[in-house]
Amino acid sequence: MEIWKLGLFLVAVISFSGVRIDAKRMSQPHPTERISGSAGDVLDDNPVGRLKVFVYELPSKYNKKILQKDPRCLTHMFAAEIFMHRFLLASPVRTLNPEEADWFYTPVYSTCDLTPNGLPLPFKSPRMMRSAVQLISSNWPYWNRTEGADHFFVVPHDFGACFHYQEEKAIERGILPLLQRATLVQTFGQRNHVCLKEGAITIPPYAPPQKMQAHLIPPDTPRSIFVYFRGLFYDVGNDPEGGYYARGARAAVWENFKDNPLFDISTEHPTTYYEDMQRAVFCLCPLGWAPWSPRLVEAVIFGCIPVIIADDIVLPFADAIPWEEIGLFVVEKDVPNLDTILTSIPPEVILRKQRLLANPSVKQAMLFPTPAQPGDAFHQILNGLARKLPHNQNVFLKPGEKVLNWTAGPVGDLKPW
Ligand SMILES: *[C@@H]1O[C@H](CO)[C@@H](O)[C@H](O)[C@H]1NC(C)=O
Ligand SMILES: *[C@@H]1O[C@H](CO)[C@@H](O)[C@H](O)[C@H]1NC(C)=O
Repeated sequence: MEIWKLGLFLVAVISFSGVRIDAKRMSQPHPTERISGSAGDVLDDNPVGRLKVFVYELPSKYNKKILQKDPRCLTHMFAAEIFMHRFLLASPVRTLNPEEADWFYTPVYSTCDLTPNGLPLPFKSPRMMRSAVQLISSNWPYWNRTEGADHFFVVPHDFGACFHYQEEKAIERGILPLLQRATLVQTFGQRNHVCLKEGAITIPPYAPPQKMQAHLIPPDTPRSIFVYFRGLFYDVGNDPEGGYYARGARAAVWENFKDNPLFDISTEHPTTYYEDMQRAVFCLCPLGWAPWSPRLVEAVIFGCIPVIIADDIVLPFADAIPWEEIGLFVVEKDVPNLDTILTSIPPEVILRKQRLLANPSVKQAMLFPTPAQPGDAFHQILNGLARKLPHNQNVFLKPGEKVLNWTAGPVGDLKPW
């Protein structure tokens, strides 16, 4: 170990243990100071009474049958599409009368086609979506009124409704033509990207609430790890030349800091992964193939300051959650300076972010719990939909007017599903 690194490490540990003591002292209620991190910093709306959602009833081959075939879809990071469906069926915002609906929801499980290894392949999703839209547009009058502008779809793939896991291909495809007027509820978020349509709602990926709960350790456990990361640095199989995967940012983390004692980073996924995050000050959340990953949710739940390395990322519920205050944003080209950046953060800033992270309403907003809870991710989605009301009158088409092109897109997508 080089001397300077040892020095840094000690500084970090000392200032960090100082932080902990302060944290205890400062958690006492203070009569005048408004402690940021108290509930209220997360936009705390109740959507009930502000919107009505009609849930189309589709043949089970679009949803339940697919899940029966592969129950792993209930626990993977794309599971929000299933839980959102279940939630809406029992939600007080659901209406059985489509005439009074503000929003129409089509329950299609487009990410539940898994390889034996559990990877969701989106290749059939466009055909499946197209088939579902065909069905609702011929069986109900509501799609044709707006061609989907008052409809929303949950599309939690890597690149949302672009339906490809590789960015180049996703960009080439663009958003499925039939969904170009709909509101897309998706995990993918990156500014100025063809796969993020204006008005889309960016949501957190699904991370299993009970499983995370089961790994909680006492909240006063010292955070003795300075920087933590587990995951791939290279994806040699899909990116043999390097530099394309994670736009090189993960490789830069590894190459610069693999021997730095402040950085606990590795490709090995230990059984103590969740516990380790609770022992860490900073958790790296770099982009992978897509800018988002479940690490953001895990970091928030485990009170580890997310270090977001994904230029132009749009974070979940960005209008409701003060991400700039909670997390830390490091631009991809600055990864080689990550050690200096992180060790220069004043302890009081770390403390404030940790307090914000301790706010249960931030954590709640990241989760899709069963049963649903006030302020959880389901409610944040409904809030996002409610904020888009009333619909602009120009979304309603004149009788017989058509805007969408039903034959646009790759020919393969036009085949029946
Ligand atoms: C909606 O429009 C399509 C043609 O674009 C038509 O085939 C279909 O019958 C219409 N749906 C209804 C319910 O009228
Ligand atoms: C619809 O898209 C197809 C395929 O790109 C194109 O050939 C056709 O001209 C388009 N139709 C209209 C009306 O724009």
